Amino acid sequence: MSKLQISDRYTWVAVILHWVIALGVLGQIALGWWMIEIPKSPPGLRAYWFNIHKSLGITLGLLIIVRVIWALTYRAPPLPDHIPAWQKLASKVSHFGLYACMILMPLSGYLGSSFTKFPIKYWGYTLPNWGWDSPVYKEFCSNVHQTTVMVFMVLIAIHIAAAIKHMIARDGVIQRMWR
Ligand code: HEM
Ligand code: HEM
Repeated sequence: MSKLQISDRYTWVAVILHWVIALGVLGQIALGWWMIEIPKSPPGLRAYWFNIHKSLGITLGLLIIVRVIWALTYRAPPLPDHIPAWQKLASKVSHFGLYACMILMPLSGYLGSSFTKFPIKYWGYTLPNWGWDSPVYKEFCSNVHQTTVMVFMVLIAIHIAAAIKHMIARDGVIQRMWR
């Protein structure tokens, strides 16, 4: 795929995808930690929120696929010259890590849910199960889901700290992701 755009800002599609996915991911993390504490009995409430988490997570997964294709097609604008080389490298590495987590979260969630006897419902519609009822594979995917979210939260915290630093420095970096 060719890299089409060179500019000092991200495209408006990248900006909208960034903020919609950022909000969605933060909400999804909070929902995930909250819902696993819901008692298993009486049944119903827990399944209801798990289905919301799955449907939201799959929606985010689809948006993330669009975002990855967009990022591969439209090159990220080069950072201003006054940004030190180590910060340019740090932004590349951390953005790559954020993308890896964005892909792994919905994938491990969907796969994990496929290795159970429960159907995966997408806003009420039953989706195909990629797997079968296998507690071992389910456990493996759950571990990937849980470990990835830890790494994700650390990367998000560093990312937000860097954004605040750029806001205070008023060096024009925030404007690249804001219109
Ligand atoms: C779950 C939350 C978030 C994720 C997954 C995320 C992910 C990313 C990624 C991957 C990029 C690289 C650009 C791209 O390819 O789209 C980026 C850029 C950026 N993000 Fe976030 N972000 C999140 C939350 C935030 C928040 C809360 C802020 C502000 C406080 C923020 C501010 C920025 C800014 C200013 C840039 C542009 C950096 C540059 O100029 O290269 N992000 N974000
Ligand atoms: C961006 C997407 C997602 C995020 C940020 C996210 C986040 C979380 C978090 C924070 C938890 C609680 C910690 C844990 O037990 O792992 C969790 C649990 C869970 N998530 Fe997700 N999730 C996402 C997508 C999905 C998807 C697409 C599915 C299924 C279709 C899913 C299914 C589950 C299930 C079943 C649990 C309960 C624990 C388990 O059985 O592994 N998640 N998620």
